[in-house]
Amino acid sequence: MNPYESHPARILEVKDLTPREKLFTLRFLDEKLNEEFTFRPGQFVIVDVPGFGEFPISLCSSPTRSPIQLCIRKAGRMTKFIHGMKEGSVVGIRGPYGNGFPMEDMEGSNLILVAGGLGMAPLRSVLWYALDTGRYEHVWLFYGTKAYEDILFRDEVLHLLKHGSAMNCTVKLAYEIESPSCIYLEQGFSDRVCRGVVTDLFRGENFDIENSYALICGPPIMYRFVIRELLNRKLSPGRIYMTLERRMRCGVGKCGHCVVGTSVSMKYICQDGPVFTYWDALSTRGLI
Ligand SMILES: Cc1cc2nc3c(=O)[nH]c(=O)nc-3n(C[C@H](O)[C@H](O)[C@H](O)COP(=O)(O)OP(=O)(O)OC[C@H]3O[C@@H](n4cnc5c(N)ncnc54)[C@H](O)[C@@H]3O)c2cc1C
Ligand code: FES
Repeated sequence: MNPYESHPARILEVKDLTPREKLFTLRFLDEKLNEEFTFRPGQFVIVDVPGFGEFPISLCSSPTRSPIQLCIRKAGRMTKFIHGMKEGSVVGIRGPYGNGFPMEDMEGSNLILVAGGLGMAPLRSVLWYALDTGRYEHVWLFYGTKAYEDILFRDEVLHLLKHGSAMNCTVKLAYEIESPSCIYLEQGFSDRVCRGVVTDLFRGENFDIENSYALICGPPIMYRFVIRELLNRKLSPGRIYMTLERRMRCGVGKCGHCVVGTSVSMKYICQDGPVFTYWDALSTRGLI
């Protein structure tokens, strides 16, 4: 697939995940492309809405499964427009772009996935890749949302909360706003569901830190607290991966729109990222 070219893809299904986010399932019109298209968890595509413009979106499906899926929050003009599009409509897709998570390097280790809100979208790709391939020791998913209604991929997450241990997976959920659904969940899973923030979910967990990697995606405020927790537990900065978002235009390192840092260390988020280690953040001004 030529990554610079936009390829038409049909929207097969549109599913409401929450009042703000919809899940789009897409299939390229070119059958050969459907067979050839592959990516790493953490990579993104640029969606081209004919006559409207383009915007970057993380692939939230796993490369082990097809067709591709995108979880899109209604944020502004273009995402509002695509939310109004119906099944059968055609959009353009170019990519995949960015580095993604180094899944091969982490094989045989524990993965600690820490998601906040919409950050669950790229981490869902990691989660299913890890569970489908079975190449990782144990997978933890710590997921914080404002309310029960905001839990993305709720059916999947609740299924793994109940049955994850059979797949070497532990899911823990934190919510901020109380509701009958949360109280009910907390009664059933008092060791894994709590009212609070995502860092509260680390309580009571003892990781084999030497053999673990953390993968974080969420709102900017979350990074500081999660990183502090991980460093306190002596996880090396090079084993902490974060996926970062910036305003982007071209997605291929040409326009300079997403550049951060100084002449000492300069990064193109679209090409060098969007996945960075905490080491990168320490050496590049403005990265987080
Ligand atoms: C690598 C990458 C991956 C992304 N993955 C996803 C995803 O999986 N799902 C998803 O819903 N969104 C994702 N986004 C954000 C998405 O690209 C923006 O929400 C979208 O471009 C907004 O377009 P718009 O025309 O609807 O909104 P605009 O009218 O352009 O903006 C509306 C609001 O959204 C904010 N906004 C716009 N772009 C961004 C951005 N990049 N980061 C944070 N805030 C932004 C603006 O500041 C404004 O407040 C990703 C962005 C990047 C860079
Ligand atoms: S978005 Fe154009 S250089 Fe990164």
